[in-house]
Amino acid sequence: GSTPSATPAHGTHTGHGKTAHVAAVTAPFAVRMPIPPVQQPIASVANTDFYVVSTRKAQAEILPGTRTEVLTYDGHFPGPTFRVKTGRLAVIAHSNHLDMPTAVHVHGGHTPSSSDGFPTDVLDPGKSRIYSYPNKQRAATLWYHDHAHHMEAEHVFRGLAGFFLIDDPAQAELRLPAGNYDIPIMLRDARFADDASLIFEHDDFQFRNTILVNGKPQPYFQVAARKYRLRFVNASNLRTFTLRLGNDAEVTQIASDGGLLAGPTPIRSWSLTPGERIEIVVDFSAFPVGSQVFLDDAVAGPVLRFDVNRAAADTSRVPDRLSTIPALPTATKERAFTLNFNPSTGQFLINGQQFDAERVDTEIKRNTTEVWTVTNGDTLFGIPHNFHPHLVQFRVLARNGQPPAPGEAGVKDTISVGPGETVRLQATFGPYLGRYVYHCHMIDHSASGMMAQMKIVP
Ligand code: C2O
Ligand code: CU
Repeated sequence: GSTPSATPAHGTHTGHGKTAHVAAVTAPFAVRMPIPPVQQPIASVANTDFYVVSTRKAQAEILPGTRTEVLTYDGHFPGPTFRVKTGRLAVIAHSNHLDMPTAVHVHGGHTPSSSDGFPTDVLDPGKSRIYSYPNKQRAATLWYHDHAHHMEAEHVFRGLAGFFLIDDPAQAELRLPAGNYDIPIMLRDARFADDASLIFEHDDFQFRNTILVNGKPQPYFQVAARKYRLRFVNASNLRTFTLRLGNDAEVTQIASDGGLLAGPTPIRSWSLTPGERIEIVVDFSAFPVGSQVFLDDAVAGPVLRFDVNRAAADTSRVPDRLSTIPALPTATKERAFTLNFNPSTGQFLINGQQFDAERVDTEIKRNTTEVWTVTNGDTLFGIPHNFHPHLVQFRVLARNGQPPAPGEAGVKDTISVGPGETVRLQATFGPYLGRYVYHCHMIDHSASGMMAQMKIVP
């Protein structure tokens, strides 16, 4: 088939794998940050765009001068970006050229159950299947990734993730920075062997110390002295990023997981747990042409360098009102969920149970509104978790009894729940029927059971 043969990366660097790895680590800001290519439809009719994607192994140059075998959507690491429009159906034919099952999930998508990538509803090796996305939701930075039962953590780690961006006319009218000034940035950590191959071990949070930005370690990115819209996703399995610009400049948060905030929110730092997105506008005209602006993580240090290398005209703006966040409907049901790790069995649990694809944990009447209280019970070992339900996006009512911070007051689908914390969420479950999962998005945790099943019923 179209699967390239897996040449071991050290085949071309016999005996010098270590040197190559060290060179990569010691030469920061030597590679340009790429922007994942936008996937083009193979056909478009009235209200539908058709795409094809093949999931296959490929060799990627991640660490300069080396080759790493990765799992890809269409050969790209990270995967190609889908740019779709609200209300236009995207029909994507996925074919699986791996020797393992896959399941494709659009994270944050209001997707019918049959296309949502339920963990056991897999695409078998050598097979194809059609996923359909109605995109009946507002503009937002979503992403897509693998969700195959027990394999999702390794598959995502090895590369099966990409952006899925929804645009709508209301957003276009705002005249936010667009086109070449609208940049998706996927952040994640990784662990490499001396021969540049990826090492995946479950729960390996100590050793995944190479940070990749759109698939490259410590890249640079040349920008004009004008406003940019930067869309971040944290695609790490376990790592939380706490970011700021190196000079502590103020930036403007404009969106969270589910799209635009009500209004622009000035921030100096921002945290992203795995699966979360944030959009900020940075005005690089505040820096002289020739300056370097670092994106710093509180733990990993500088992960990306912006090189302000030219002047540019800028007719974009950030209006005082960005969107209308709908009023909260009345909730008719309350539920409580506790996330915890059982140290004696090594199991990750929700309400004391591991995921079972045959067991419905939560039955929900379609189009009803519920309040969910999610608690991280892992105070003893201080294990961080977060929480992500499929199908819906939610509003945060409270974090530890306090109203949410402005950056969390918009539309969300993934929320940090630190050790001992309690977060109250409200969501309206619909319009689709069927089974969906909710889980911790520290994906090694969900792959080891910290996931449960909800069924939307008439
Ligand atoms: Cu990123 Cu189950 O999702
Ligand atoms: Cu967790």
